[in-house]
Amino acid sequence: MEKAIMVKGLQKSYKQHHVLKGVDFEVSKGSIFALLGSNGAGKTTVVKILSTLLKPDSGTVTVNGFDVASKPGQVRQSISLTGQFAAVDEILTGRENLIMIARLRHLANPRQVADDLLKRFGLTDAADRKPSTYSGGMRRRLDIALSLVGSPPVLFLDEPTTGLDPEARIEVWKIVKELADGGTTVFLTTQYLEEAEQLAGQIAILHEGRIIASGTLAELKQLFPKAQVEYVEKQPTLEEIFLAIIGHKEAM
Ligand SMILES: Nc1ncnc2c1ncn2[C@@H]1O[C@H](COP(=O)(O)OP(=O)(O)OP(=O)(O)O)[C@@H](O)[C@H]1O
Ligand SMILES: [Mg+2]
Repeated sequence: MEKAIMVKGLQKSYKQHHVLKGVDFEVSKGSIFALLGSNGAGKTTVVKILSTLLKPDSGTVTVNGFDVASKPGQVRQSISLTGQFAAVDEILTGRENLIMIARLRHLANPRQVADDLLKRFGLTDAADRKPSTYSGGMRRRLDIALSLVGSPPVLFLDEPTTGLDPEARIEVWKIVKELADGGTTVFLTTQYLEEAEQLAGQIAILHEGRIIASGTLAELKQLFPKAQVEYVEKQPTLEEIFLAIIGHKEAM
């Protein structure tokens, strides 16, 4: 299968701090790839290198067929990045934010592009308000909508659902799935194992500077011995207690 991202022997240090010690992975076109790792593992560092914001010390990285070191301009034209912290402008309204990015990307009809994305992300009613009045989920949706202006083939999402409530998280998952179904390659980082389970065809775990495990969820599950089933006394849930009390009262 054709590769949207190829990373080989990637190393990066911040002064003495050797963060990436030889990272290797590949991402197929149109797939969702999740990079897992604890705080400080180097996930954002990987995203920054892949999106040309940071230079690697060594190794080769290609995105959409372009080398990040020798063809950074072409890489940038192929990608968009939704960073770990929301990058929306607070003075402009949601609609104006989108129109501004569409103009910066030299698109033909910025207003139409903005209207289409607002509709797709359920933000039409909120379009003419400033993001400061949005909920966390709405801001994140606007943030992702902004990164889709111009339909880049490769999308980087650095912890797209951190801080969102479960409902907003499910909404973002739905959007990400739709994007991949439409052929976009999605590279995301997350600390939520469930997020990777829900979304990613391929999962890689970054730990102490290297990918220590990677594969599909099924492949990763095989790395662990099957759990022994033990006899454990089952405690009633609050719901069961509640139902029992209600039933008891009704029976009286
Ligand atoms: N500009 C920088 N200068 C020095 N050290 C840095 C810099 N950026 C990151 N680091 C260090 O590199 C390590 C990896 O950071 P990075 O942000 O890539 O981790 P992360 O996996 O994204 O973490 P988190 O889950 O908290 O977002 C951390 O120890 C961090 O302190
Ligand atoms: Mg990070």
